[in-house]
Amino acid sequence: MSPIRRFFRNHLRPYLISGIGGAVLFTIGNSFQAFMLLALKLMFDVQFHMGGSPGITLPGTVQKLLRFLPSPEVIQQSALLIPGIIAALFILRGLLLYLGSLLVARAGMKAVRDLREQLFDRVLVQDPSYFQWHPVGELMNRVLGDVQVVQQLASGQVADILKQISMAVVMLVFIFRTDWRLACFLLLVFPMVVLPVRHLAKAIRRQGHKAQGGVDILLQRLKEVLSNMRVVKAFAREDYESGRFRTQSHQIYRMGLRVVRIQSISSPIMESVGGLLLAGLAVYGSIQIRSGAITGSGFLVFLLAIYQLYDPIRVLTRIFGEMQLSTVALERIFDILDTSPTIVGPEHPEPVPAQPARLAFEGIRFTYGQHEVLRGVDLVVNRGETVALVGGSGGGKTTLVNLVLRFFDPTSGRITLDGIDIRRFDPKDLRRRIGMVTQETLLFMDTVHDNIAYGIAASREAVVQAAMKAHAHEFIVSLRQGYDTPLAETGSSLSGGQRQRIAIARALLQDPPILILDEATSALDTESERAVQAALEELMKDRTTLVIAHRLSTIQRATRICALKHGCIAEVGTHEQLLTCGGEYARLYHLQFQA
Ligand SMILES: Nc1ncnc2c1ncn2[C@@H]1O[C@H](COP(=O)(O)OP(=O)(O)O)[C@@H](O)[C@H]1O
Ligand SMILES: [Mg+2]
Repeated sequence: MSPIRRFFRNHLRPYLISGIGGAVLFTIGNSFQAFMLLALKLMFDVQFHMGGSPGITLPGTVQKLLRFLPSPEVIQQSALLIPGIIAALFILRGLLLYLGSLLVARAGMKAVRDLREQLFDRVLVQDPSYFQWHPVGELMNRVLGDVQVVQQLASGQVADILKQISMAVVMLVFIFRTDWRLACFLLLVFPMVVLPVRHLAKAIRRQGHKAQGGVDILLQRLKEVLSNMRVVKAFAREDYESGRFRTQSHQIYRMGLRVVRIQSISSPIMESVGGLLLAGLAVYGSIQIRSGAITGSGFLVFLLAIYQLYDPIRVLTRIFGEMQLSTVALERIFDILDTSPTIVGPEHPEPVPAQPARLAFEGIRFTYGQHEVLRGVDLVVNRGETVALVGGSGGGKTTLVNLVLRFFDPTSGRITLDGIDIRRFDPKDLRRRIGMVTQETLLFMDTVHDNIAYGIAASREAVVQAAMKAHAHEFIVSLRQGYDTPLAETGSSLSGGQRQRIAIARALLQDPPILILDEATSALDTESERAVQAALEELMKDRTTLVIAHRLSTIQRATRICALKHGCIAEVGTHEQLLTCGGEYARLYHLQFQA
């Protein structure tokens, strides 16, 4: 199914009534155009005596309607009557087209709103690894840019198409009633005009994909520069970034121009065909008039009708070109909607134990692409224990704890909670039971209160209590608006230690039975490390904790320390035990304290 068809079928259908209403209004409005032509003819015939039989034959209903018109004498006497009728019809037609456009646009915009919401929900459920291959810039462009393109299709182009088609139908009927043979001929010729234009569609789509890909890259660059502005400034790389931006921006300009170039070819094709057609009709008309088959006024009006049939076809081919870009946008949107996350729970998930007694890693192997990071890790953490993971950088510590949260699934082996494979839980339920504090703390553009509560309706009391335990209350109340102080995305108005303590308060409020600390204090100076360490100890109370720490001084009190080497756990023991046996841990420890 073509993306446009799919959009119409799955997304526009709920608003079909609105769309049909709009189409009906367009048809009524456009049929006034036929009446206007008739009024014109009446004026020519009666006022300028151009008529006389035979003229154009009018459809029966129109004949009946004409009886309501004033008699020829009245028309002749009042020179303003016909122009008055024409003006009134134009105004009425304008009103109907306006209402019709509104109806159709509303339906389209609602469909696009649904699409945007579905798209965002779909992005939210993707696997963490999805975002590795789809950078922020690309996803922003898909959720905002591509949806915007579809918006143009749904609100503007669909209305235009209906308007033009209804106009073409009305005029075709008019021409049929006047000269059916010519109408048949036109019906045969016009589609032939559209055929070459169809061939352009593929080329437009190909270029359109490239152009949107260019915008993805530009947005990604923009995002990176804006969020790394301190680096840009500190290294004085403004000119460098400006140059890179310009290069990419110029690329987009060139690709956009290429699209327009292909799109615009359809216009001269259509104009030439239109010219030929008009010339042919002039010849045809003069023969008809000379033979007395049609009057001058009849032919004039007839020519106007053909022009008004030709115009919608011209506009429709233009819209057809524009619609290719909507196709590109829809392809990019459906690409996301059709991607299902692989990390999901079973249909009937098990309830996650509220206070799991035992977290176990059983023969865990894990590979990123070709790169085997974990080669059979066995580890048991009982309730209330603190187990520390140490090992060289890049040894797979972060990878191992990410597996507990099911950011990835192990290549082989399993992780269990109280003996139940964590793949049998709903991932969301599982993650709710696990608190995580990492090196980089990400805050949201919200108040301090909302950053701590993060999405749950927590009372101020509960938030303050969590902040107190996290040793954050003191500095929070000294902020300008206390708990109501708004924070920036990166929280740059706060120090690293303060941000970290807000993150700890967030974890405390969530009150998870299992806790993962991944280098939570590594980015801090000694003084804030001490404050954060105190907060962490509060957080670790009565919880099962897996802690990764770069600074070995922070994990000396762990129940057990596991040293990871070559993807396996090389040694297990307490701080003292491992120091005396002089293995990997002892090596790392001496390395650190010699410095
Ligand atoms: N998302 C990823 N895709 C591919 N390789 C990765 C990814 N994350 C980490 N790695 C690689 O896996 C190895 C282990 O990384 P990591 O678990 O972060 O180590 P640690 O936390 O012990 O420093 C490293 O060699 C790293 O380059
Ligand atoms: Mg790490």
